[in-house]
Amino acid sequence: MERTLGIIKPEIVERALVGKIISRVEESGLKIVAMKMVRLTKRQAEEFYHVHRGKFFFDELTTYMSGGPVVVMVLEGEEAISRWRALMGATDPARAQEGTIRKDFGTDIQRNAVHGSDSPESAAFEIGFFFSGLELHA
Ligand code: CMP
Repeated sequence: MERTLGIIKPEIVERALVGKIISRVEESGLKIVAMKMVRLTKRQAEEFYHVHRGKFFFDELTTYMSGGPVVVMVLEGEEAISRWRALMGATDPARAQEGTIRKDFGTDIQRNAVHGSDSPESAAFEIGFFFSGLELHA
């Protein structure tokens, strides 16, 4: 059993498509064990995306991710990390496979609808960033 962090990004909240993303998660069989809506400060977005510090898109990314509320959720299941990444599709919606969330709802490489942890280590950091143990419902 594995857990991963998912984020529904600001443009999806703005466009009132949150429910469609949650449906995709539920239909996939991944279990939502925690979920909330939060608005990050620029500083918090920089901490969350610290592994990208120094990259050319870091400032734009963290400005965007702190520009409106996001929905964060913890997904649980066997191989949850790779399953959620498969559901999301490639980072760039233009390259994402048919039927993936980013293909269907993403706008461009930055406004790509959703985020997911890329390893068990990043999942542990990212889940702990947003949730305490008390907020995770087994
Ligand atoms: P995400 O999965 O949230 O992880 C890092 C984010 O940086 C990525 O999705 C994109 O939204 C954003 N980003 C913007 N430009 C790029 C780029 N050229 N390559 C990768 N990620 C990018």
